[in-house]
Amino acid sequence: MKRAIYPGTFDPITYGHLDIIERSSRIFDELIVGILVNNSKQPLFSVSEREEMIKEAVAHMNNVKVMSFHGLLVDFARAQDASFLVRGLRAVTDFEYELQMTQTNKVIASDIDTIFLTTSLKYSYLSSSMVRELASFGADISRFVPENVTRKIKDKYKVEN
Ligand code: PNS
Repeated sequence: MKRAIYPGTFDPITYGHLDIIERSSRIFDELIVGILVNNSKQPLFSVSEREEMIKEAVAHMNNVKVMSFHGLLVDFARAQDASFLVRGLRAVTDFEYELQMTQTNKVIASDIDTIFLTTSLKYSYLSSSMVRELASFGADISRFVPENVTRKIKDKYKVEN
């Protein structure tokens, strides 16, 4: 059984993330979307909100699970018996950070490999931070995120503004 983790912050999940999830769910027997619980960052959405949004967005893929994790990614991967990590690469600007992270993970956990998928061209500019910024100014973000996320983000800024 080839099990992989697709880790990230997902604040919020975008069509770019979903594209990577869909494609990697066809490569692996099981894919776990792992949401990092990062207490040093102030996210727009709580972990449980992000978990719920991602679960709705991946409901049509029956080999994809959604979980959150604390601490080291490789510890989470081992606890889930996953030998692979999946990351998306959008542009060369992602490369340095991704390489450093992957090499660090390889040094501390040589049994775990990272697989990179290049983001589909139509989503190569997309990021969660850009979506948050656009939404905060009331721009239409429906081209960038699943419908349930568009609704949630609208509610969030309605409440906060
Ligand atoms: O979506 P992001 O924010 O680019 O994802 C980054 C993430 C969650 C993959 C990374 O920060 C991570 O793995 N954090 C867990 C802590 C860890 O394992 N650090 C060592 C690797 S550098």
